[in-house]
Amino acid sequence: MKTFKLHHHFFTLLFFLLLPFLKSQTERQENNTGYTCNNNNKNQTNIYPCQSYAYYRATPPNYLDLATISDLFSLSRLMISKPSNISSPSSPLVPNQPLLIPLTCSCNFINTTFGSISYSNITYTIKPNDTFFLVSTINFQNLTTYPSVEVVNPNLVATNLSIGDNAVFPIFCKCPDKTKTNSSFMISYVVQPFDNVSSIASMFGTTEKSIIDVNGEILYDYDTIFVPVNKLPVLKQPSTLVPSPPPSGNFDDGDDDDDKSGTVRGLAIGLGILGFLLILVLGIWFYREVLVKKEKKGRDLYFGDKGYNGNNNDNKKKKQMDVNFMANVSDCLDKYRVFGFDELVDATNGFDESYLIQGSVYKGEIDGQVYAIKKMKWNAYEELKILQKVNHGNLVKLEGFCIEQEESNCYLVYEYVENGSLYSWLHEEKNQKLNWITRLRIAIDIANGLLYIHEHTRPKVVHKDIKSSNILLDSNKRAKIANFGLAKSGINAITMHIVGTQGYISPEYLADGIVSTKMDVFSFGVVLLELISGKEVIDDEGNVLWANAIKTFEVKNEQEKARRLKEWLDNAILRETCSMESLMGVLNVAIACLNRDPSKRPSIIDIVYSLSKCEDTGFEVSDDGFSSQNLVAR
Ligand SMILES: *[C@@H]1O[C@H](CO)[C@@H](O)[C@H](O)[C@H]1NC(C)=O
Ligand SMILES: *[C@@H]1O[C@H](CO)[C@@H](O)[C@H](O)[C@H]1NC(C)=O
Ligand SMILES: *[C@@H]1O[C@H](CO)[C@@H](O)[C@H](O)[C@H]1NC(C)=O
Ligand SMILES: *[C@@H]1O[C@H](CO)[C@@H](O)[C@H](O)[C@H]1NC(C)=O
Ligand SMILES: *[C@@H]1O[C@H](CO)[C@@H](O)[C@H](O)[C@H]1NC(C)=O
Ligand SMILES: *[C@@H]1O[C@H](CO)[C@@H](O)[C@H](O)[C@H]1NC(C)=O
Ligand SMILES: *[C@@H]1O[C@H](CO)[C@@H](O)[C@H](O)[C@H]1NC(C)=O
Ligand SMILES: *[C@@H]1O[C@H](CO)[C@@H](O)[C@H](O)[C@H]1NC(C)=O
Ligand SMILES: *[C@@H]1O[C@H](CO)[C@@H](O)[C@H](O)[C@H]1NC(C)=O
Ligand SMILES: *[C@@H]1O[C@H](CO)[C@@H](O)[C@H](O)[C@H]1NC(C)=O
Repeated sequence: MKTFKLHHHFFTLLFFLLLPFLKSQTERQENNTGYTCNNNNKNQTNIYPCQSYAYYRATPPNYLDLATISDLFSLSRLMISKPSNISSPSSPLVPNQPLLIPLTCSCNFINTTFGSISYSNITYTIKPNDTFFLVSTINFQNLTTYPSVEVVNPNLVATNLSIGDNAVFPIFCKCPDKTKTNSSFMISYVVQPFDNVSSIASMFGTTEKSIIDVNGEILYDYDTIFVPVNKLPVLKQPSTLVPSPPPSGNFDDGDDDDDKSGTVRGLAIGLGILGFLLILVLGIWFYREVLVKKEKKGRDLYFGDKGYNGNNNDNKKKKQMDVNFMANVSDCLDKYRVFGFDELVDATNGFDESYLIQGSVYKGEIDGQVYAIKKMKWNAYEELKILQKVNHGNLVKLEGFCIEQEESNCYLVYEYVENGSLYSWLHEEKNQKLNWITRLRIAIDIANGLLYIHEHTRPKVVHKDIKSSNILLDSNKRAKIANFGLAKSGINAITMHIVGTQGYISPEYLADGIVSTKMDVFSFGVVLLELISGKEVIDDEGNVLWANAIKTFEVKNEQEKARRLKEWLDNAILRETCSMESLMGVLNVAIACLNRDPSKRPSIIDIVYSLSKCEDTGFEVSDDGFSSQNLVAR
């Protein structure tokens, strides 16, 4: 049963006559207002709505990660990554990477003269310079057309769109008529100039006939066709050149429940990641995954018809090469130990749960030395940008690493930091509370760690996820910054993909994705508030600590401010006799760090200086005024 497009009956006939002489494709049908549907079957269950899919290609510059694409279709990343055969929803995509977008296809009544058309209702908010045409052809890649957008948005004037208008973009789809076909659903596909029926059929694992039955003989370039299939085709994804970045308690993962498995909530040790090391590690990986495979393939081809018993020998040779390569690496990295996978398995009793510290970080003892072992997959693009040698007493130290070949996992082995996270000291039951002078030293330690990555690495490193659970305390309760999994080198970058932890994220990053050292300064300000107040960054009612602090301490009058500070203080501190001046000084630093305008926040150098002055006044009460007031005035 051929279903021809109504508007093109004439042309279709013409084409049949001329078919032998013509290319079987032609220009896009310019005024396609959509695909009619009929959902009024009297004696059978209605076929609409149904589940369908659209084939979408990742395209630069804006649609190269699942976060933006899933936002466009109002889905979670996981809802796209699963049907698309992408193992990690957070990895960046490569141009033209194929995706299957799940849609709910329904039959929508327009009016009695026009009838109904089938589409998936996607709401899009108009941005500057958007037109129905541009959004249909670029953002939605011709999965809809502007005439159809006009039809379904009768109250919007195409020539007079306002920024912020919500328009429905009808993504074309169809549901299979179960009485006529055995296929379980239809995939909306936009015909590309290089396509023909047979290439499309093989791409989706279906027959040419079934495509022609639904769409007719003629495929028009950039027209949407519907490919009936019984099961989802398995998309060929570019090989895992870009494995997932280390997951971390990111709030962008909130919508993807499954995504959280292996998520390092809070703690997540991970520091001292060395660029050099990473490049080498990736080098090994790349070597193994790409070069060796390629070589193997070549050799198989070469020896194939000579009956060469290649596999055994090949593997041996490959192993030999790996060993050599590893030896070379460890030569370069005499500081870093290359651990054997079996050593790590022994140390953690096969990664037993009882050895789990948190997330994917295990505690293990190797040769009498205790380590924190973090299991991760690599995200080459992200991680490569970090680093320079980071090696500082206030950053958790990387001791070594291990590469496990079978599943291409990587293990980073860190110094074990005995006393757990600052978060646990502030917010969990402990039989001992931190006193003020310890808190102040912790603040200075963190500031020194940040000073190092902001000022003494080239390029600068932005941690991006400073929070109390990423601060670890050693046996002397000195602080070390952990988890550089999200860190970015290079500053003033803009990212589309928001990571970080709610309650700590700076407003400019949340709104515009602006990455700079000042976003770490902001998060540090929030940690200072936690140290002062002992309060959680977001309380049970959803109140955000930093917003609350700004409102509370807006007063000019210093006495009133001091009074409010006393109300705010952690009870544990209130019981001590410590100088109000020191407390006030730290509060002023915190408030300055929380300035909405990043350029008005103090630099980490100013902060270290001011906090050190607070430390000087921590014990003795002097009367030379508030040492950190100058920060607020900046
Ligand atoms: C397309 O629309 C134009 C005017 O909008 C009309 O003249 C033309 O006949 C239409 N073509 C088809 C194939 O419907
Ligand atoms: C619908 O009704 C027609 C005629 O009344 C009948 O031939 C057909 O089998 C029915 N279809 C179903 C699915 O019941
Ligand atoms: C599309 O979705 C929006 C929001 O969910 C709803 O208000 C609107 O009625 C829907 N439109 C159609 C045609 O289904
Ligand atoms: C919109 O277009 C104008 C002129 O073409 C251009 O100057 C402006 O940068 C564009 N705005 C955006 C947000 O792309
Ligand atoms: C959509 O179709 C137009 C032609 O109508 C074409 O120029 C454009 O490249 C297509 N967009 C995509 C993303 O293929
Ligand atoms: C029905 O909808 C079409 C497309 O939006 C419009 O052109 C036409 O004027 C409408 N007819 C009535 C009677 O509203
Ligand atoms: C364009 O839209 C704005 C607000 O939606 C309205 O005030 C204005 O009159 C419209 N202009 C035209 C020419 O329709
Ligand atoms: C559906 O499947 C049945 C048996 O599997 C087969 O006989 C029938 O021809 C199929 N129908 C279509 C439209 O492919
Ligand atoms: C269809 O395209 C493929 C390559 O994309 C080509 O190999 C094949 O010959 C084409 N088939 C026809 C019938 O044009
Ligand atoms: C996913 O894609 C990869 C790479 O193309 C392929 O090797 C693998 O078999 C696919 N996985 C599934 C579950 O389809």
